[in-house]
Amino acid sequence: MSYKLTDQTAQLSINGSIYTLPIIEGTMGDRAIDISNLLQESGYITLDSGYKNTGSCTSTITYLDGNKGILRYRGYEIEELADNCSFVEVAYLLLHDGLPNVSELESFKGLIERFALIHEDMIHFFDHFPSHASPMSILSVMVNSLVNYYPELSDDPMDDIDITSTRLLSKIRTIAAFSYKKSMGHPLVYPRNDLSYCGNFLNMMFDKPVKPYVVRPEVVATLNKLLILHADHEQNCSTSTVRLVGSAGVNLYAAISAGITALWGPLHGGANEAVVDMLETIYADDCNFEKYISKAKDRNDPFRLSGFGHRVYKTYDPRGKIIKKACDEILNVLEVSDPLLDLAYQLEEIVLKDEYFVERNLYPNVDFYSGIIYRAIGIPTNMFTVMFALGRLPGWISQWKEMHGDPATRIGRPRQVYLGEKPRDFIPLEERE
Ligand code: SDX
Repeated sequence: MSYKLTDQTAQLSINGSIYTLPIIEGTMGDRAIDISNLLQESGYITLDSGYKNTGSCTSTITYLDGNKGILRYRGYEIEELADNCSFVEVAYLLLHDGLPNVSELESFKGLIERFALIHEDMIHFFDHFPSHASPMSILSVMVNSLVNYYPELSDDPMDDIDITSTRLLSKIRTIAAFSYKKSMGHPLVYPRNDLSYCGNFLNMMFDKPVKPYVVRPEVVATLNKLLILHADHEQNCSTSTVRLVGSAGVNLYAAISAGITALWGPLHGGANEAVVDMLETIYADDCNFEKYISKAKDRNDPFRLSGFGHRVYKTYDPRGKIIKKACDEILNVLEVSDPLLDLAYQLEEIVLKDEYFVERNLYPNVDFYSGIIYRAIGIPTNMFTVMFALGRLPGWISQWKEMHGDPATRIGRPRQVYLGEKPRDFIPLEERE
């Protein structure tokens, strides 16, 4: 991908030497200092813990403006996509850089139907996880294991990438639902080709021989919206993990398995589970908001308000706004009254008026309300982050594809500043005190 060089440069003065660094500009006017040759020219590296100030790549997939609360996939506003598309349409958009026409969508859906089953041998894997095993650990293991059933994958990672990626998009849904059924001791429900992507998932999760599950269009629509809102988010922790692991040349499934593991963290995708745990704790503690807000503000207390704050958004996360509205709507449709929703509304109201949070631009993020919807649908708390992974999968794959398609891609290998011991003489074991 070629970026636009501006006529501006950055001048770096070190010990009297001046280094001129090009300033590049992205499509939306986002600018960066290109330090690709800094070490070679100056002998210096840069240091940026957490990469708060560092771009790892150029990308054409997702654009977000953290100050204005803008999020676009391939140039389309997230609000438009969430209101007008199915998740499968958006997955196609991310993977192929354009919304599908009718025939493209039909053939994409056909591939998803074709790949919905997992090898029967893989089903035995579930028998060997303890019943309390984390669904995220199971998901990561099962996705990584898929490569063993498709040995051709270990050659050129980009070979047949459309088949490879659609296969995973379809199977991850089956793996997630099967792991739930196994954890409940219920018989597996196999995918059905007469159901949509989300309808199939819901049916595989909740259908029972004794009580057939009714796939409600409102629930399907809400799940589509949630998965769309989670589908990509430029170079977040798990996507950067997929790119870094992928840059070593491993197959797609191994790189995605690493991304699932990164997403598991409570500071990242695991926050949707942590939000509900936090709300339940506050609810059980007589809704003592003051106690938990002061804990969150106390630098010596590791407690943070899950679902608030974001590395990039310094205003309300646009996804959070849409999810909050969808949450209200689906709970009304399902006639579910969840005390945690009222609690969440109250907590948000208090936080958004509190100077500590206001001056740090800490707003609700994508994870603050999503778990309340999952609860209303019947998804267990320990599967909330699995739902995030299902949504994020097309984004991870599209970023992995883009990385492999970029001739400038090299294996990711950051540097460091060494603060360890200076050279010291070796002491043989027998002489050590
Ligand atoms: C996701 O990157 C992405 O795009 C991620 C994501 C995606 O779609 O992929 O959007 C998904 O991961 C959303 C974030 C989910 N995580 C949480 O909700 C966990 C709670 N949030 C925080 O831990 C935190 O806000 C992070 C991790 C999200 C962001 O951390 P940063 O950017 O490293 O910011 P920071 O920790 O340096 O915080 C700056 C200040 C600090 O206070 P001071 O040092 O200035 O005194 O804000 C405070 C922090 O203590 N702060 C919080 C807080 N978040 C930040 N204080 C209380 N509660 C919080 N939630």
